[in-house]
Amino acid sequence: MRKPFVAGNWKMHKTASEAIALVDELQPKLADLTSVEIVFCVPFTALCPVANRLKASPIGLGAQNVHWENQGAFTGEISAAMILEFGQYVIIGHSERRTYFCETDETVNKRMQAALNAGLHVIVCVGETLEENEKSQTEEVITRQMRIAFNDIDLSLLKDVVIAYEPVWAIGTGLACDAQKANEIIKYTIRKPIIEMYGEEAVRDMRVLYGGSVKGSNAKEYFVQPDIDGALVGGAALKPEFIEIVRAAA
Ligand code: PGA
Repeated sequence: MRKPFVAGNWKMHKTASEAIALVDELQPKLADLTSVEIVFCVPFTALCPVANRLKASPIGLGAQNVHWENQGAFTGEISAAMILEFGQYVIIGHSERRTYFCETDETVNKRMQAALNAGLHVIVCVGETLEENEKSQTEEVITRQMRIAFNDIDLSLLKDVVIAYEPVWAIGTGLACDAQKANEIIKYTIRKPIIEMYGEEAVRDMRVLYGGSVKGSNAKEYFVQPDIDGALVGGAALKPEFIEIVRAAA
């Protein structure tokens, strides 16, 4: 059995003090939902204060990006070791990074290598744009994203990876992907390449999330699907509604 996994992607929201206030609001109500692995992916500046707040909590903490070099002259970048002082997770390859910050499949792979080798757990995002979807390129695009993201990633590191299927057209739009359709895409374009690259056994333990306009009201539709193990939540992760989503996963 794969443990359900719900991560909040806070994006560029919340100053350090606002982040503490949100954690203090959510944490007590999430405390008894231990059957779900819960992770807050906060802005870099909130990692230290939120880590202090979560010291005695099973809730995990993560960042939203990581550079592939260990250190050096890379102005503005953050290394895996810097994140690891405070958190255990990092989101890699989110569509907003791909769209606005020139992230490519190759840089996703480099970040995956660096993060996993340093000991971070990775939430790697894949998904097609509206245009690709309309041109029926979903399978081709996601299969390519998957193959390159996992290039040269050792089987022994897969236990530290969670994959998120996030159709770009569903992110922040309120137009969530139909749950059965999302399950089908996860099965045939995410789990299948994992089987091809690593074998049947690897896919059995691999957790795959759905992300894109997940709400308290629709979360359950995803969680009852056999190939979906949880959600990557954006907008609703900043509200008490996040508790409803975790409850649906529990
Ligand atoms: P959303 O964002 O839940 O606001 O659609 C999801 C994400 O970007 O991970």
